[in-house]
Order: sequence, then structure tokens, then C-alpha cells
Amino acid sequence: MERGPQQRASAAPSVIAHEASGIGFEGVSVAYGSQTILESLTLSVKPGEIVALIGPSGSGKTTALRAVAGFVQPSAGRITIGNRDVTRLPPYARNIGMVVQNYALFPHMRVEDNVAFGLRARGAGAEVIRERVPECLGLVGMAKYAKRYPRELSGGQQQRVAIARALAIRPQVLLLDEPLSALDAQIRRSMLDELAKLHRSLPSLTVLYVTHDQTEALTLANHIGIMRDGHLVAYGDAQGLYRRPPNRFAAEFLGRANVLPAQQLEPMADGRARVRFHGQLLEGGNHHGLAAGAACFVCVRPHDLQFVPGAAEPLADGQRLNQLTGVVVSVQWLGEMHSIVLDVEGEMLRLTCSPLAQPPEPGTSLTVRFDPADVTLVPEGERHG
Ligand SMILES: Nc1ncnc2c1ncn2[C@@H]1O[C@H](COP(=O)(O)OP(=O)(O)OP(=O)(O)O)[C@@H](O)[C@H]1O
Ligand SMILES: [Mg+2]
Repeated sequence: MERGPQQRASAAPSVIAHEASGIGFEGVSVAYGSQTILESLTLSVKPGEIVALIGPSGSGKTTALRAVAGFVQPSAGRITIGNRDVTRLPPYARNIGMVVQNYALFPHMRVEDNVAFGLRARGAGAEVIRERVPECLGLVGMAKYAKRYPRELSGGQQQRVAIARALAIRPQVLLLDEPLSALDAQIRRSMLDELAKLHRSLPSLTVLYVTHDQTEALTLANHIGIMRDGHLVAYGDAQGLYRRPPNRFAAEFLGRANVLPAQQLEPMADGRARVRFHGQLLEGGNHHGLAAGAACFVCVRPHDLQFVPGAAEPLADGQRLNQLTGVVVSVQWLGEMHSIVLDVEGEMLRLTCSPLAQPPEPGTSLTVRFDPADVTLVPEGERHG
């Protein structure tokens, strides 16, 4: 069927004119001198996807991004953008837009000239610049500010201009390195919404987003990779990774988790397993296929624990809930919730719940229950790669 003029008008903006391209890391290692910073990173970002790389400071996130941009040369492995091997290409030939934490705009240039900078450097004509600059500023809600100087903008506005500048060259991929970390919490939240909106209007833009803020990753990303000491230690879709973390580090880095050491795993029929924790049996999902007899960790989120008011009854036979009793160590009211820490056999167990009119007293005994469906058994060691 012929497309009517209205449909044509509502088509995606021309900023991303070409086919979406993914990013591939195939066994990429980066070393500075004799020190290996990135160890055989293999990861693929599908076209049009947002992948967040998270991890503690120094874990190699920026290095991974710089390798894609071409600012560092891998000592081993291949980097692809779409079906092009870009490993040996100089940065300017990679067709990448990049925004970093304090991407200082050129202070002596008006917003419009900042956005046009990459285009001019690539020899774009005046007509292209006249069309592309307002289009990109419009995408980040900054069309009205074209004539301002950076010093006349707030931090959040400056980052929007930096994003418009990165988009102006019609990059195949957008690399964002902690783009919101210099902004205060409230502006960061609204910028997160803006970034999500931007991606909805440019659905074919592939984004690799580096952050150490798990909320940003969970809010924006389709997939999340967790880095530790130059290794990718976990990768998965945001919900799956949160609900079924593959190891202790991932469980504790992405959201808060209770992680209890357990022994003598006994696989059960339905993909679950039973383990021993100080003489008690606990049940959970054996999503990672741990072997019979293994030691492991029981991982359960604080909001998945329910406390049993009053004196707890033993669980009836066949009632498939986990139950633990401990001594209340601390009770904190955090406005929208209470956070209670229990000492169970020397392990600290945190539970969060809606604010309580009569919170338990420290020093008293408290019983909590949790559903095996909310438990993931994670291996003791980490499997790199
Ligand atoms: N140019 C360099 N020369 C030598 N070592 C470097 C260089 N750049 C980074 N490193 C080291 O590489 C490691 C990884 O750095 P990278 O910047 O990738 O970490 P990051 O995960 O981005 O951390 P952050 O969250 O603090 O930004 C660090 O130990 C850092 O000191
Ligand atoms: Mg960094």
C-alpha cells in the first residue's frame, strides 16, 4: 500500500539514516603497559538495543567504551560495528557519537556551533548543518537554546547539548560514559526519562551506556553487563539478571541482596534445590544448575522477606515456604519503608517492608518467611567470561 503524506511525516527523524548496527566485542583485551585492564571481553550489543555496563570504579567500563571509540587499541580480539571490523580503524572513521561525564562543551561557541562542530570537521555543507543542528537540538528539547553559550545553561542542559552534538554526525552507535553522574539526583531522574524518550524516537540507535548507578541501568537498559576487575562477570536482560543473578557479586552489585552461605545441595525435580543453612533446610531455584552436594549461596532480596508477627508457628507439612528466626539487630525507618536487620546464626539478614505502626524492638526474636520462587542459589566462585 502507498504511504500517505501523514505517515511519511511521522516517520522517525533522519538523524539515524542508515540501518541499525550492533556492537561486537570478541575476546577483547586491553593492557596499559604490563597491566591488563580488560581481559578477553566478549559481548554483543544488538542493533537498536541499550546495553548498560556497570561495575565498581576501576573495573574497566570506560576502557571498554574507549576501545569501541578507538581511543585505545586492544592487545587482542576484535571489535565490530554492524558487520565492519573496526579494530584497526581510527576513531573518526568509526561513525560513533560519544558523551562523557564532563564533556565540556566548547565554552566560546554557542550551542548551535557546538552541535555543528563534528559536522564541520567532517566537511558537511551549510545546508546540512542548517537542517541537522535544529533537528538534533529538538530531539533533546533544546531547540530554544541554540544561541546561548554553555555558561548560560544548567548542567543538565549542557549534557543535553553534548548528546545533541554526539547525534549530529548521525552515529551508528552512541557511547555514553556516566553522562548523568555530574548532575544532582532530581535532574538525573528527569534526564533518565529524557534519554528513554530519546531512544523511543530513535529506536534504531544502538547505545552502550556506562554507569556505576544501578538505577540508571535498570531503568534504561535492555541488557546489563556487570564488570569486575576487567572481567565481565554477569550479562543478561535487566529483569533476569536481577531475579536470577549468576553469582554473589552480581547479586550484591545489582540491587540489595541477602546472601547466606549454604551446604549440601540436593537437586529437586522441578528445577529447584534444597540446601542446608545451619541445620535448617531452605529451598530455592537452582537456575544455574549447581551439582548435588555443592556449597553455594542462598540469595534473596530484602523485599521478598515477610516477617511473621507474634510467635511464629512451625510451618505445616507441605507448605513450601522458607522460614528463619533471628534476633533483631536494627530497625530503621526510611520514610517510605522500614528496614530491619536480623542476626540469623551470625549472618545478617535485611528485610524491607511498608512502614510499620509498631516496628519490632531490637534484641527481640523475629521470624521471617520467604517463597522458594524468590530465591536463587548462586555458586560460590565466579565464572569469568
Ligand atoms: N591511560 C591509562 N594508563 C594506565 N592505566 C589506566 C589508564 N586508564 C585507565 N587505567 C586503569 O585501568 C583501570 C580501569 O579503568 P577504567 O577507567 O576503565 O575504569 P572504570 O570502570 O571506568 O572506573 P570508574 O567507574 O571509576 O570510571 C583502572 O585501574 C585505571 O587506573
Ligand atoms: Mg569510567
